Amino acid sequence: MKIAIIGGGPAGLYSAILLKKQRPKAEITVYERNRADDTFGFGVVFSDATLDNFEKYDPPSYRRITREFAYWDDIAVHFRGTVHRVGGNGFCGCSRRTLLLILQERARELGVSLKFETDIEDEARFADADLVVLADGINSRFRDKYIEHFQPEVDIRSNKFAWMGSTRPLDAFTFIFQETEWGPFIAHAYQYEAGRSTWIFETDPATFKRAGLEGLTEKQSADRMAQIFGWFLGGHPLLTNRSMWRNFPMIRSKRWVKDNMVLLGDAKATAHFSIGSGTKLAMEDAIALADAMHHAPTVETALQQYEEGRREEVEKTQHAADVSLVWFEHVDRFWDFDPVQFAFGVMTRAKAITYDNLTLRAPDFVAEVDKAFAKQVRAKGLDVDITKPVAPMFQPMKLREMELANRAVVSPMCMYSANEGLPGDFHLVHYGSRAIGGAGLIFTEMTCVGRDARITPGCAGLWNDEQEAAWRRIVDFVHANSVAKIALQLGHAGRKGATKLMWDGMDRPLEEGGWDVISASPIPYFPDSQVPREMGRAAMDAVKTAFVASAERGGRCGFDMLELHCAHGYLLASFISPLTNQRTDAYGGSLENRLRFPLEVFEAMRSAWPSHKPMSVRISATDWAEGGINGDDAVAIARAFAEAGVDLVDVSTGQTVRDAQPIYGRMFQTPFSDQVRNEARVATMCVGNITTADQVNTILAAGRADLVALGRPHLVDPSFTLKAAAWYGADSVFCPPQYLPGKEQIFRNSVRDRQDFDDLKIKAKPKTRAELKAEATKPLAAE
Ligand SMILES: Cc1cc2nc3c(=O)[nH]c(=O)nc-3n(C[C@H](O)[C@H](O)[C@H](O)COP(=O)(O)OP(=O)(O)OC[C@H]3O[C@@H](n4cnc5c(N)ncnc54)[C@H](O)[C@@H]3O)c2cc1C
Ligand SMILES: Cc1cc2nc3c(=O)[nH]c(=O)nc-3n(C[C@H](O)[C@H](O)[C@H](O)COP(=O)(O)O)c2cc1C
Repeated sequence: MKIAIIGGGPAGLYSAILLKKQRPKAEITVYERNRADDTFGFGVVFSDATLDNFEKYDPPSYRRITREFAYWDDIAVHFRGTVHRVGGNGFCGCSRRTLLLILQERARELGVSLKFETDIEDEARFADADLVVLADGINSRFRDKYIEHFQPEVDIRSNKFAWMGSTRPLDAFTFIFQETEWGPFIAHAYQYEAGRSTWIFETDPATFKRAGLEGLTEKQSADRMAQIFGWFLGGHPLLTNRSMWRNFPMIRSKRWVKDNMVLLGDAKATAHFSIGSGTKLAMEDAIALADAMHHAPTVETALQQYEEGRREEVEKTQHAADVSLVWFEHVDRFWDFDPVQFAFGVMTRAKAITYDNLTLRAPDFVAEVDKAFAKQVRAKGLDVDITKPVAPMFQPMKLREMELANRAVVSPMCMYSANEGLPGDFHLVHYGSRAIGGAGLIFTEMTCVGRDARITPGCAGLWNDEQEAAWRRIVDFVHANSVAKIALQLGHAGRKGATKLMWDGMDRPLEEGGWDVISASPIPYFPDSQVPREMGRAAMDAVKTAFVASAERGGRCGFDMLELHCAHGYLLASFISPLTNQRTDAYGGSLENRLRFPLEVFEAMRSAWPSHKPMSVRISATDWAEGGINGDDAVAIARAFAEAGVDLVDVSTGQTVRDAQPIYGRMFQTPFSDQVRNEARVATMCVGNITTADQVNTILAAGRADLVALGRPHLVDPSFTLKAAAWYGADSVFCPPQYLPGKEQIFRNSVRDRQDFDDLKIKAKPKTRAELKAEATKPLAAE
């Protein structure tokens, strides 16, 4: 077999090694345009898990690599004169140059032919090769040559960064967030061998410009960085090696394989440097390719298996890198945070590290985070314990005169079980049991302001006296039997009205018994849905009057809070999104125009709603569709509602158009809440695939939302909050007297269960290489 590999970086060399081990008789050649010891960059970083993989696949190169390593366990965050350290991270660094020399030596030893100073212009010269590996890096010539086939998507990120080195020793992966007269600068730094560390500097484009970095030489910009970070460098110089400032290209390719050619490493996909995974991904690609080549009968099927098997893992890493890079791009959002909360945000930015996970590794740090959170609550006038505070989820919150006992919320969830809009016994038991279960706030399902405002024939409403009495019964039950507050969500279905019950076909038009539907513009949801009537001023007035009348009824029922539903493609949302609003009058066109009617409705309701009670608005912060609402629009929408008197923005997403492309995942909507809260400076509630109390605490402690709503988890577990309180020992949680024996038991058992769980986790966690090295080098006397 003949294999040609274009590119002698980590991906190319490691694939040559693994393939040669598998097929000693194969003729394998690596073509590299540079000289053998030419290299850019300084150190590379691997996690312990990646090293375990290297050990399994090629022990000799693993041994040589790890001999050269610098290990560290801690992450240190420097911000506004403070430093917070968190241990147990298990990372190691090594010089990129050394890594490449080790891989070259190992490849040669196995019989791979290495051809340096050979720039490949055309792969036609490998017509007789069975396999051509395209490991030609981030600017891959061959990916570009077959651009139509590979379909790369290159997203050039806004921040500027430059890679430098230093002789400054470091004992932790170090993040320095530095205020300057021009704006914020960030250093990501780690040691990779004795007396050498990598320094990546990053800043936003405006700060870059203000700092006069544009057009400076490498040396001049290194001097400027040394000036800014001089207090930390302590006289150590900054070193350069092709250390130009650039913008990071986030690359994803739709296809990785063409005939017998395969893209590997940076050529196929990149991952932002803030999660230190570029070289790891490149070498793990080589492992995946070698595995596929080992098991598949032909090169063609091997390449297919490589792509199919590897894509999910790469995309997961890229997603984590995306979330992380966005955090760094928007660091100014958090610049006025308490330093410990800021450090918690740095640690948890990419979702892998959580509140519970940090409690296990760095309990003192989390105790400090809890204290800072409690102090903020106290600063808002609530009398909470700041010496031994409860976890953030169990901290109270006040909106106008409404005080919530904790920050867990039952999200609005249609039950499709009302008869002519009338809530019945099902609703009483449903809402009542969730209130007893301990959540601080319960939302009603979308409650419709008129018969024709319903989504389905089973939707609840509040447009007549009978419904008002039924809702009052529910509100009275909640108030009499729990400390939960209950919010009424009012909405109008718009073009998604007259559709089937969820279990009969979500959003599908009713076959019989339907009613006329209205919307901002006459665009049907599905091609075969009813075409909605475009609303004129008279229809708008009627809808506004209906919202106000229902709000007044809600006031009489005793609801504690009122929410206006402006999300998910329903009537008011259809005005806000340009995808559903194509009007040419004063209610269409600019965002300001599109918001005019929803704001008018909100303001009319606000006037009719008691001034001491809060109001919220639910928005879709993105349509997940080309040309639709995005996060920046959501900030503008939130600001407009805040000016009109909204107390909380309930940040959901999507469901505007049927061909949306949401990116699902754990807590997938939380970044939008984060953006709205910390840019528009309004209180937010986040929601969406949040399933554990650990995630709730992580979100709250990092300042990404003020309240956390859970929908589906509450459908199967009305006592979610009570159980979580037992886990965190928050015994101030409400429990009705009838259930106290159950509360005592779960609190007692939870202490033991939690201890057992923590012990198991600690036992199951392998020692990091840094810990093993520290043990091995410990002087005997110290034992
Ligand atoms: C300036 C810079 C500095 C970096 N520094 C670091 C760092 O300090 N630490 C770190 O972890 N990561 C660093 N990275 C990222 C890291 O290099 C990559 O994520 C990783 O090296 C990807 O490996 P690869 O084998 O896919 O690509 P590369 O390492 O880029 O290797 C591709 C190779 O292909 C060769 N090549 C390209 N075209 C041809 C051709 N037509 N013919 C022959 N040869 C060709 C190139 O010369 C190169 O050697 C840096 C990236 C850049 C751009
Ligand atoms: C069956 C069902 C009914 C829902 N009804 C409503 C509703 O009436 N009003 C609303 O704003 N959101 C509604 N939603 C959205 C939820 O409030 C919530 O935002 C969504 O389920 C995501 O949260 P989760 O992952 O915690 O379930 C509904 C969701 C589901 C699954």
